[in-house]
Amino acid sequence: MKVTVVGAGAVGATCAENIARKQLVEEVVLLDIKEGLAEGKAMDMMQCATLTGFDTKIIGSSNDYAATADSSVVVITSGIPRKPGMTREDLIGTNAGIVKTVTENILKYSPNTILVVISNPMDTMTYLSAKSSGLPKERIIGMGGILDSSRFKFRLSEAIGCSPNDVQGMVIGGHGDTTMIPLIQHATYNSSPVTNYLTPEQQAYVVQETMVGGATLTKLIGTSAWYAPGAAGAFLVESIVRDQKKLFSSCVYLDGEYGQSDICIGVPVVVGKNGWEKIIEFDLSADEKEKFNASAEAVRKMNSVLVDMKMV
Ligand code: LAC
Repeated sequence: MKVTVVGAGAVGATCAENIARKQLVEEVVLLDIKEGLAEGKAMDMMQCATLTGFDTKIIGSSNDYAATADSSVVVITSGIPRKPGMTREDLIGTNAGIVKTVTENILKYSPNTILVVISNPMDTMTYLSAKSSGLPKERIIGMGGILDSSRFKFRLSEAIGCSPNDVQGMVIGGHGDTTMIPLIQHATYNSSPVTNYLTPEQQAYVVQETMVGGATLTKLIGTSAWYAPGAAGAFLVESIVRDQKKLFSSCVYLDGEYGQSDICIGVPVVVGKNGWEKIIEFDLSADEKEKFNASAEAVRKMNSVLVDMKMV
């Protein structure tokens, strides 16, 4: 089995490395438009094979899409990352054209692939792929919710003083600083509601820090984060290629679920070999529903820029 990662920047390379280390597939193709970058990073990673003990073959390609032929899954990370002070939404003008071209080129060689979209603004880039690729909606998944949920669980574990692996929690809605919705009332610490362990102030802090998680890192590092975004991409790929049917939050095309249509936004989904296989409708409170609808409105406004750009 073969997986392609488009974009050999920090997120794409980290994603490819995680896929290889976990030996999820026989072959990973890393492709980038910049001459030599993907070949170089692939070679560097292959020189880890005997050190970290993996047999996955990683192949670098400078924009030769023929090398990506017959990929079961393609992860799209292409585009410019955020600089401090920028929102993910500021990237749409540049990244929409890039993501559309990449999607077209990929489909020439892997017409039935499953697309995993990481490029920002992620909800709108997922919508762009959903509208322009012609693929069945189940075969297009945006990564944001997994990353945001992982950040949420980390923040909860810090506040509780426990292992992040003992925390269950989900972030739904858009993958934006103001659009994501950490579902703190549904989160648990080993089956017991986290709200039993945290004061209302601590809960508010965790929610706020989760929402600005990407911006906090961009400010500290000077560019977008990559370890968790790359690992989240590989986590999604794993559920597909191993047909794990894991339940997590991802950005998918809604057709009436959660009261929304013609939009890609984060909701709980089961992911397996066919892409996202089932949307799980959580019993949201009135407040959570209101937040979800407001988030959808913000994402829809961003999607309308694609119409203005004549992209969809
Ligand atoms: C982040 C970027 C990848 O949240 O959206 O770090």
